[in-house]
Amino acid sequence: MSVPSVPQPVVSMGGLLPAVARAAQIVGRDDDVRALPEEVRALGRVPQARMWEFAAGRTCARRAMRALELPESAILVGAHREPVWPRGIVGSITHCPGYCAAAVALEQDLAAVGIDGEPHEGLPTGVLEAITDPAERAALEDLPSGPVCWDRVLFSAKESVYKAWFSLTRAWLDFTDVFVTVHPSDGSFQGHLLERVVDERAPAGFDGCFVVGAGLVLTAVTVACGPGRSPRAWETGDSRNDTALTV
Ligand SMILES: CC(C)(COP(=O)(O)OP(=O)(O)OC[C@H]1O[C@@H](n2cnc3c(N)ncnc32)[C@H](O)[C@@H]1OP(=O)(O)O)[C@@H](O)C(=O)NCCC(=O)NCCS
Repeated sequence: MSVPSVPQPVVSMGGLLPAVARAAQIVGRDDDVRALPEEVRALGRVPQARMWEFAAGRTCARRAMRALELPESAILVGAHREPVWPRGIVGSITHCPGYCAAAVALEQDLAAVGIDGEPHEGLPTGVLEAITDPAERAALEDLPSGPVCWDRVLFSAKESVYKAWFSLTRAWLDFTDVFVTVHPSDGSFQGHLLERVVDERAPAGFDGCFVVGAGLVLTAVTVACGPGRSPRAWETGDSRNDTALTV
């Protein structure tokens, strides 16, 4: 199974994560992608392309877990499609055409991780209006004009926030329940939960970071253990957190 190739990778999910986390990513083709039999059973019958991306996500997850010296284990599928991590592990998976990644950490080091990868292109017509409020759109318009599709960065940031949020609360979050502010100067963003959805199991604000390159937008959110701690991941992570890179 294969996915279309993308140009030389210059972006790294691991670079968006704190040092306690590990990431693995596949850019383009990888012939060693596989899902374990119990994972395939949990997924059920799906088209081949879906099976490939599912297996690629599980493969990345196991490579990242190996980098934490954890044994190989199945990552099953939860009732809301979320990955079910082995006890003591937190993590997140993403895939888009030509790209797949997983990030993991020990539960004792991080409370939650959310990652997302997207093609670096403008959102389809109408999507930005559906996922933002007018103040968010106004703030986007103030960002530097140039090659970066800020609407896609914002969308991806919301997806990462959602994945981290869900793993803490197991609750739904609408795109307009979170106000995202993007900071191009240091590649960071903040997601602030609206009052109506604040939940004591999760922070009211999520810090994340992003990178744009090689036709991709990558975002990551991490939540520290304990109240009031928020690791500034982009200050501590580097590409050595990535354990696999295939072009
Ligand atoms: C679930 C969702 C976030 C997945 O995002 P996507 O862009 O379609 O796809 P990605 O490739 O980035 O991520 C898919 C992976 O996310 C993971 N995932 C799915 N549901 C999840 C959930 N509820 N919580 C955490 N992770 C989840 C899975 O590992 C999945 O891959 P897999 O099915 O192969 O295991 C998205 O489909 C969705 O439902 N979004 C609506 C909710 C939302 O984002 N709200 C924004 C609030 S600000």
